[in-house]
Amino acid sequence: MSLIRSHIVGTGYSLPAKVLTNDDLSKMVETSDEWISTRTGIRSRHIASEGEYTSDFCVKAAQMALKNAGMKIEEIDFIIVATVTPDNTFPATAAKVGKILGIRPGVAAMDVNAACSGFIYASQIADNMIRLGQIKTALVIGAETLSRIVDWTDRNTCVLFGDGAGAAVLKASEEQGNNTDRGILSVKIFADASHYETLCSDSGVSFNQKSGFIHMDGKEVFKIAIPSLIEGIESSLELADLTLKDIDWYLPHQANARIIDSVAKKLEIDDSKVIITVDHHGNTSAASIPLALAEAVESGKIKRGDVVVISSMGAGFTWGGMVVRI
Ligand code: ACO
Repeated sequence: MSLIRSHIVGTGYSLPAKVLTNDDLSKMVETSDEWISTRTGIRSRHIASEGEYTSDFCVKAAQMALKNAGMKIEEIDFIIVATVTPDNTFPATAAKVGKILGIRPGVAAMDVNAACSGFIYASQIADNMIRLGQIKTALVIGAETLSRIVDWTDRNTCVLFGDGAGAAVLKASEEQGNNTDRGILSVKIFADASHYETLCSDSGVSFNQKSGFIHMDGKEVFKIAIPSLIEGIESSLELADLTLKDIDWYLPHQANARIIDSVAKKLEIDDSKVIITVDHHGNTSAASIPLALAEAVESGKIKRGDVVVISSMGAGFTWGGMVVRI
């Protein structure tokens, strides 16, 4: 029986020009390149300059994704931005991005806040709408300016995060309805708010009218991230009726190279199949997966026909997985 699937027909990304290295950070707080790189795998990250906003990175990433898809903004039926650092409290950053890009009036626009799992959550929404026949195309973006909610005097957190955006254009395509199809083959999303305070902003609009700074219990996040990322992989592969033997690439949320290594070792995924960008992006939360995907496609690593399993975990806690044949 044939089935409508969402093909990823174009990807794109955008990073701020300004690069902050570990050595730069060691002049700001008591830290060192050695400590940061051995504990996290991060060597540098991109940081937005004054006057650069989340929407700016969304727009550039979307333009690149549309160009790579050979499509125009007029052909997009839905725009969704995953972010915890929107330009304004409201309207949605997706609305602003649509306005700048010149999207058709009437096209639905929304943001989703699922922290580092935001891109998987946003893809779930867009993919469901495509599969139900409500839309034919979607622009799915993950974007952050985390540097605006980092306490630059706190060495426990300021060394971890970066800014940027990644985007994917999804397009409906009729497939056979089995595990040899192209497109998004499965998405699974989860949350458990018993960890609400383990990783959070210490402020909020309703709470105290501020945006606040990132706080986390790093050790606790580290412990829970590993089984959560594994559950994202295993549950999405099971739903896609595939196994680890079928995958060409594992694309994890880029938070920490030690977390990624540990997941890969436990599942016996060869290092050569793991996409790593945390070394030069840092943790860009909702942007991390689409950024890594777009870079890997651009560099020719991920090719048409490759099976990619994606998994993420972040504040909430939220976590999830997704299997795509490109
Ligand atoms: N430079 C130098 N020393 C530091 C720094 C720093 N940047 N940060 C902390 N330290 C010190 C601490 O103060 C502590 O010193 P003390 O022993 O004198 O008290 C020592 O280093 C050890 O600190 P720990 O927090 O125990 O270090 P740990 O080995 O756990 O590494 C880290 C910390 C890297 C944050 C780790 O816990 C981790 O990666 N956790 C996962 C968190 C994460 O990735 N969060 C991202 C968001 S969540 C997500 O995206 C999934």
